[in-house]
Amino acid sequence: FNIIFVTAEAAPYSKTGGLGDVCGSLPIALAARRHRVMVISPRYLNGTPADINFAAAVDVDCHVKIHCFGGMQEVAFFHEYRAGVDWVFVDHPCYHRPGNPYGDSYGAFGDNLFRFTLLCQAACEAPLVLPLGGFTYGENCLFLVNDWHASLVPVLLAAKYRPYGVYKGARSVLVIHNLSHQGVEPAVAYMNLGLPPDWYGAVGWVFPTWARTHALDTGEAVNLLKGAVVTADRIVTVSKGYSWEITTSEGGYGLQELLYGRKSVLKGITNGIDVTEWDPSSDVHIACSYSKDDVTGKVNCKIALQKELGLPIRPDCPLIGFIGRLDYQKGVDLILLAVPELMHDDVQFVMLGAGDPKFEDWMRATESSYRDKFRGWVGFNVPVSHRITAGCDILLMPSRFEPCGLNQLYAMRYGTVPVVHCTGGLRDTVKNFDPHAQDGKGDGTGWAFSPLSKESMLAALRLAIGTYREHKSTWEGLMKRGMERDCTWDSAAEQYEQVFEWAFMDQPYVS
Ligand code: ADP
Ligand code: GLC
Repeated sequence: FNIIFVTAEAAPYSKTGGLGDVCGSLPIALAARRHRVMVISPRYLNGTPADINFAAAVDVDCHVKIHCFGGMQEVAFFHEYRAGVDWVFVDHPCYHRPGNPYGDSYGAFGDNLFRFTLLCQAACEAPLVLPLGGFTYGENCLFLVNDWHASLVPVLLAAKYRPYGVYKGARSVLVIHNLSHQGVEPAVAYMNLGLPPDWYGAVGWVFPTWARTHALDTGEAVNLLKGAVVTADRIVTVSKGYSWEITTSEGGYGLQELLYGRKSVLKGITNGIDVTEWDPSSDVHIACSYSKDDVTGKVNCKIALQKELGLPIRPDCPLIGFIGRLDYQKGVDLILLAVPELMHDDVQFVMLGAGDPKFEDWMRATESSYRDKFRGWVGFNVPVSHRITAGCDILLMPSRFEPCGLNQLYAMRYGTVPVVHCTGGLRDTVKNFDPHAQDGKGDGTGWAFSPLSKESMLAALRLAIGTYREHKSTWEGLMKRGMERDCTWDSAAEQYEQVFEWAFMDQPYVS
């Protein structure tokens, strides 16, 4: 297939979370299976050393004029061919801003709808105009559109291109990484999206009464993700469990009925991970390498981490870690509420994260109360995230919902035992410890607790801590099973391929 990934981020060029990881590694896995793959994403330049990531991408000297938000915008395309994939970056001044790609300390950028509409419009032009390696990708391609930022693509194909006979042979697959972000804006924004007037129904949405701000608010809005839900040929979520959750009122964020209505084309495919970047036997960021056959180096990683964090050097003391966006989704509040109680135990705890300023402050305050046991590292730092993954014994993820979750996968590969809330992809990937299985030898790769409460989280953590302290061989079994599980992209890439084949078996859903 000729596959076009459309995404707001792709590691290592840009990354704020798992979307970047997936769009940086799944394309490579698909290219290795002999597909032609292009990833198209903004060329963020933020004036920091991170810009170096884009340095190898060169201007392909193909400028396109796009009618967007009532004006003519000119975009350029930069390109790098790496690991079998065409990495294409849309260049426009709206992507050149300091800091995070989506917003600053005041919140999300006010023109994000413009920025991602432009990305979608440019992505629809790219396969037609870019002569990569001498050939364009052409019209009969497969668009893989990720989350709301890319969701206008299937709508544009149906409303703007197919009426003129273009892209009749193309198909689109929407990949939902996180349904809680949908790209919702006031209905007046419709006229800026570049869609014909009679297509309002595709993206028009009325948001639920409880979400309205005052009595006169009619809830009329445009919702980009909804546009893709109703026009994409196939829909994929990043785990099986999540594909069911989004069809329920608890997990559907207002789109559950539409998603339920498209159940027959909805499939859950659990993410894999980049096993080259995340490999304890060759990880350049960690103090000492180790592998599933010889884990002795792991304790040196723990000692080095304790040193780096300024915690007492105690190889036998259980070290618990958390890495993630400081967001309500991740259950950060629950952790910080539980810490005072947990600090009665003989444990050490490190949290790495950035996000909601209220949680950042709370993390700092907690650190100052428990200086000899707790570290709250505020910031986004990939090397430190590797060192925490390697150096900790336990990784805690009490996410309220988790479409897939990658940190528990990294943790298991590094022999760090996950303790997670039993939800979404966490439920699908962490096998709850069962001491009686396998003739009393025990089975499982971690603890998956439920319901989501401080009490049940602490109970699970204490089981993990007790097992670590008192039952060494059981603990080693947990580590080993986690390190041995298959977390490569192989199976997921094959399943994506099947979805593509399935999409091409039918006519376009909206033609
Ligand atoms: P989500 O995509 O919801 O943020 P995932 O578990 O899928 O959650 O992926 C998060 C990714 O972002 C992981 O690669 C994780 O290591 C990384 N990450 C999150 N916060 C930080 C941080 N503060 N510093 C470095 N990496 C981080
Ligand atoms: C999202 C989800 C996370 C998932 C990631 C990659 O950001 O929150 O659970 O692992 O996307 O698919």
